[in-house]
Amino acid sequence: ACGGSSEKSDSSNAGSENDGNDIQELTIKFSHVVAENTPKHQGALAMKEYIEKESDGKIKVEIYPNSSLFGDQDEYQNLVANNVQFIAPDLSKFVGQNPQFNVTSLPFAFPSDDEAIAFWDGEKGQEILRSLTDDGVLGLYMWPNGGKHMTNAKKPIEKPEDLKGMKFRTQGGQVQEAIYSALGAGSESIPFGELYTALDQGVVDGQDNTLSNIESKKFDEVQKYMTIMNHNRVDYAVFTNTKFWDSLNEPTKEIIEAGVEKGTEKARSEAKALNDAALETIKERGNVKITELTPEQIEVFKEALQPIYDQFEDEIGADVYEAIRAVSE
Ligand code: LMR
Repeated sequence: ACGGSSEKSDSSNAGSENDGNDIQELTIKFSHVVAENTPKHQGALAMKEYIEKESDGKIKVEIYPNSSLFGDQDEYQNLVANNVQFIAPDLSKFVGQNPQFNVTSLPFAFPSDDEAIAFWDGEKGQEILRSLTDDGVLGLYMWPNGGKHMTNAKKPIEKPEDLKGMKFRTQGGQVQEAIYSALGAGSESIPFGELYTALDQGVVDGQDNTLSNIESKKFDEVQKYMTIMNHNRVDYAVFTNTKFWDSLNEPTKEIIEAGVEKGTEKARSEAKALNDAALETIKERGNVKITELTPEQIEVFKEALQPIYDQFEDEIGADVYEAIRAVSE
């Protein structure tokens, strides 16, 4: 019975109505900005494999890595327009839509992937992920990448004063800006696809990112120092277009939903290993001098950044802070 589909569609009408019981023929686009050797791309691949296999090839998933289809600047508006059906941007890039997405940038909020996952799977996290329905965007799952570490071209960072006078690139958001300003540094938000060149040309002195992003984009080629800090995180929201989602008939939606779950499992289980392996590769390349902070040195950064919690309590919410504490303590 599965072979007898009468409904035919292609990428140009992904999102057309279909109330039938046959799997819809669709081409789904998944666009992202990072390289292939990263948790996000590995998650997207697992999702593609599952969906294409389970649908006997009726549903095709095209993955566009490295900002090759859309970049940070335009992927959201293209999701809203249903030109792409899945994106998985860094949560901190959505603070313009909802300041609660600043959670991922709060200093030292989550010790590891596990606590961040527990927060975003919990009630408050789910509320935030699903807060973009007015734009026609549905947040499905959080995919982790990991803790961020600082790189720069000027000097080793061991204490807050070391950042004075430097300028850092941010992913975006008021909390990230406040972090750098509390540490005496300037900051500028720059799309990920332009970051290598910005570092190379000295538009900014440094940046913070996960090890897999630093390694796979070779930022260490254009930086001299790296400090292992884990001061905040890159985590993603898997976003889809609500109109596209609602246009899927039951058997089609079931497969795609299960595919997103497979991708979620993959991203969550691979993130730490990919970041650990990236650190080894960065060490082998030997381009940056790596500083590992002692617990006492970390404590000094924590204290310097603690006032940020008060500063943003009204915007992010005391209830959200409580939910973070509940998973992290
Ligand atoms: C960055 O812009 O540094 C990251 O958010 C990129 C990404 O998607 O991991």
